[in-house]
Amino acid sequence: MKSNSKQNVLILDFGSQTTQLIARRVREAQVYCKIHPFNISIDKIVAMAPRGIILSGGPSSVYDNDAPRIDREILDLGIPLLGICYGMQLTGMLLGGRVERSEHREYGHAKLIIDEPDEIFYGLAGGKPGHQVWMSHGDKVENIPKGFKVLAHSASCPVAAMAHAERSIFGVQFHPEVAHTEIGSDVLRNFLFRVCKCVPDWTMESFVSTTIEEIRRKAQDGRVICALSGGVDSTVTALLIHRAIGGNLSCVFVNNGLLRKNEPETVLAFLEQFRLNVVYVDAEERFLTKLKGIEDPEKKRKIIGNEFIKIFEEEAAKIGHVDFLAQGTLYPDVIESVSFKGPSATIKSHHNVGGLPEVMKLDLIEPLRELFKDEVRKVAKELGMPYELINRHPFPGPGLAIRILGEVTRDRLNILREADHIVLEEMKASDWYWMVWQSFAVLLPIKTVGVMGDERTYDHVIAIRVVDSLDAMTADWSKLPYDLLGRMSSRIINEVRGVNRVCYDISSKPPATIEWE
Ligand code: XMP
Repeated sequence: MKSNSKQNVLILDFGSQTTQLIARRVREAQVYCKIHPFNISIDKIVAMAPRGIILSGGPSSVYDNDAPRIDREILDLGIPLLGICYGMQLTGMLLGGRVERSEHREYGHAKLIIDEPDEIFYGLAGGKPGHQVWMSHGDKVENIPKGFKVLAHSASCPVAAMAHAERSIFGVQFHPEVAHTEIGSDVLRNFLFRVCKCVPDWTMESFVSTTIEEIRRKAQDGRVICALSGGVDSTVTALLIHRAIGGNLSCVFVNNGLLRKNEPETVLAFLEQFRLNVVYVDAEERFLTKLKGIEDPEKKRKIIGNEFIKIFEEEAAKIGHVDFLAQGTLYPDVIESVSFKGPSATIKSHHNVGGLPEVMKLDLIEPLRELFKDEVRKVAKELGMPYELINRHPFPGPGLAIRILGEVTRDRLNILREADHIVLEEMKASDWYWMVWQSFAVLLPIKTVGVMGDERTYDHVIAIRVVDSLDAMTADWSKLPYDLLGRMSSRIINEVRGVNRVCYDISSKPPATIEWE
């Protein structure tokens, strides 16, 4: 649906933290959209024939010397436009309005009073006298440009929304994309459907069929190789390519010996039904030998990454001539490299197959490049993956190695694997598993004194880590019921030999991280 769709909405990024959220909200309304840097050329915009343009917010002041700007002519293209926060101020200024400069930022909740139930506020003016919205701005539009009218105000912001209805240019000072803005989705939907005249045709069903076509066109008779980790991204990538080119896809599943209990078996058993070509590589010994004596977390990551690449290359050589490398790259990874901010310091993207593309020098096939994680999950459902697999907690590429603090040994792996399994079993039995972002056990590099029967013990400590999060960038520890924590603790101490103490990690991210290493 994407390449042949006229439904494209462009989001021009001025560096706001919430630009990605705008795109997600638009996609949730089943309209295809993409984020572009603010300085994309007008020719490119025209060539894409978008139904609408959304200008994001951003940290700058329109008066800054190096303030990001768009070509004024973009406003004259006749394409409906919605400016959000900085996007509104910039529109206001470019069209001859006056923006008031402010030395301090104002942010938080505000009550929005709708004065004109015009297009973007259609159906929202009745009922409550005010709507809760989220504001985060320094400057604000003081005098609207000629031909505009004020659509809404708040106590501290006389022009909280403005419009030039005939030109279909709108501006909102608040952020409709964030959840704190109650009417946010409605405002965006009004813009998309009433102003831009989009129809909701971006569905994962249509994505699957067009993507399979595209893969077929690109791969033709070529051979594709894909690293399977068992995670939802790589599995969906493989399933889509398999549907497109069948036997010309070879998947490599590397068991690095750092996986959870029963992991390789579960993944392979699931894949069996699809009759994928899967090469299973048992490389436990190789990884453990390389990790001998290594305590530094970053060294562990590097060793594991390099060994993985080596093994993958060896397997590729065995397969023979290969034309393409398939990867489960997602849209947020792509945005990072194209957006205004450039590679962002705050967003951490860990690639389980990091380094492969550079080394392999193969053409890439990345069918998920345009999708957000929640969209990948929908595709997974579409492809017949069961709920349990689709909604599994994320698992880091270096696996249990970064959950064993200090040296990774077979004995330590066995202890952690058993303890982790109990944590997961109890999380699932209580249904808490489906309500949190991640849950796992960590093996600490210390021993403590305990007592068992009449005997004094001197054994390992397990930490349980369970967190709530939306995107892993921030996280909070989950408030699990005491009896659930108690069951985990007594089961681990009773069932896992070598553990006599269990702790619960109650730190949030930041300043802690989700993983311990
Ligand atoms: P942190 O610990 O940075 O983790 O708060 C954020 C998310 O990333 C996962 N993670 C990794 N994933 N390779 C990966 O593939 C890694 O080296 C790695 N380190 C952390 C972590 O599980 C969490 O979901």
